[in-house]
Amino acid sequence: MTQNTGETQGSTVLVTGASGRTGSRVAEAARAAGLTVRAASRARGFDWHDGSTWPQVLRGADAAYLVYPSDVGAPDAAETVGRLAREAVALGVRRLVLLSARGEEQARPTEEALRASGADWTVVRAAWFAQNFSEGPLVAELREYGELVFPAGAVREPFVDARDIADVVVAALTGGERYVGQVVEVSGARLLTFGEAVAEVAAATGRELSYRAVPAGEYGERLAGFGVPPEEVEFLVGLFETLLDGRNAHLSDGVRQVLGRGPRDFGDFAREAAAAGVWKP
Ligand SMILES: NC(=O)c1ccc[n+]([C@@H]2O[C@H](COP(=O)([O-])OP(=O)(O)OC[C@H]3O[C@@H](n4cnc5c(N)ncnc54)[C@H](OP(=O)(O)O)[C@@H]3O)[C@@H](O)[C@H]2O)c1
Repeated sequence: MTQNTGETQGSTVLVTGASGRTGSRVAEAARAAGLTVRAASRARGFDWHDGSTWPQVLRGADAAYLVYPSDVGAPDAAETVGRLAREAVALGVRRLVLLSARGEEQARPTEEALRASGADWTVVRAAWFAQNFSEGPLVAELREYGELVFPAGAVREPFVDARDIADVVVAALTGGERYVGQVVEVSGARLLTFGEAVAEVAAATGRELSYRAVPAGEYGERLAGFGVPPEEVEFLVGLFETLLDGRNAHLSDGVRQVLGRGPRDFGDFAREAAAAGVWKP
């Protein structure tokens, strides 16, 4: 649990993406730290793509956690995040923490738009989430067919537990001036290939699970076959080609810097999710 210095006890934080992998955990950690959470997503009437829904969630909040769907580097992200951040500041919501991605050049304009808004900003750049293997679009195939098909070759990635991201975000929100104007890069403790990660999941479940690497272009054709619109396919293929080219095959020490402890281990994540039945066919 994140220690709250006291100043922010009882203050209200808007959590966007509150039903998602990080937002749900940020909401939980924020409540545990004594903050009042205002959970937001489309299911609760907040839509990033409809500015008329923004004031109702911003007004009266003290801080916000910003998660831009589906990707912080999406072509419209900088413009939209910048607009919401300026509106937040105008409504007195000065403390803004943005979830971004390590090594994602496409996300830099979004970070810049946040900086330019005049907010008291913090950017948390995360590695790939461990929870990509247990929640979200990659899970069904792994659970149902025992195979993960992905364009990651044999590149190594330090998968980070979304609970560590949440703890870092809440530490930033409750840390007063300490993390204002800072970029914090967070990763897990070990570099694993996607194949090694799937092998750890397999060991935790007792099932035979495998990873099949495919070229990014071929993966894009699969996405198109699943009905993903062409412009999104193009964006994702470009994203995977760059993010998974080895540039992120290194550890970052943001979890230890901010929390004073090491990151949660991928093996523990796999065992806990397996015990919860996530990969049961
Ligand atoms: N996956 C990774 O490994 C990774 C690594 C680094 C950074 N990131 C960044 O993480 C972000 C995604 O975060 P996440 O994985 O925690 O979320 P997520 O699990 O993908 O969930 C998306 C959340 O956003 C909400 N949402 C979707 N469309 C919305 C809209 N138009 N307006 C308002 N809310 C909307 C969803 O709820 P509703 O459906 O109810 O709206 C849900 O709560 C992206 O910006 C991505 O670039 C991801």
